[in-house]
Amino acid sequence: MSALTKNNIVLVGFMGTGKSTVGALTAERLGWTFADTDRWIEEKTGKTIPEIFAEQGEAAFREYESEALHELLGGKHMVLATGGGAVLAGANRACMLAGGLVVALTAPMATIIERVRGDSNRPLLQGDASERVRTLLEKRRGAYDFAHMTIDTADLEPAAVAARIVAALQAGSL
Ligand code: S3P
Repeated sequence: MSALTKNNIVLVGFMGTGKSTVGALTAERLGWTFADTDRWIEEKTGKTIPEIFAEQGEAAFREYESEALHELLGGKHMVLATGGGAVLAGANRACMLAGGLVVALTAPMATIIERVRGDSNRPLLQGDASERVRTLLEKRRGAYDFAHMTIDTADLEPAAVAARIVAALQAGSL
């Protein structure tokens, strides 16, 4: 399937790689709608992500996440930022690949640690954030490789990342 026929853009990547910032900018450039699976879950449940993890556990959160993906990718002209762990389920990956152009954002570990340090909204990084990032990155090695394209955001401003995504979509070469 050519990228031109893809209905949506799906951003995947580890926490702190800039999916939400880049996603909103990409949507603005295209005149498309921006959505974020975490925000969708919070609106649906009326709870914050930390509350869901604490009260219902990670497994329940993952179910909401799959539901969000299926619901949001059913439409078109949407740029969707997904939670860093959304790629772990094969069914989610299949849903993303079928629903849009999947773009993985990456960043060096030091950059990620700098960005997420002190953030109380990410339950999986509570405690020693550096150690948690290190362990999770190792555990998730290769998890984002299924994407149609990957952009290393280390030396790029969010607007430049968005420009690359738009160019790839319009080139239709994927
Ligand atoms: C998670 C990433 C978070 C959020 C939840 C779990 C993960 O989203 O979905 O805290 O498993 O990597 P961001 O990647 O937007 O931080």
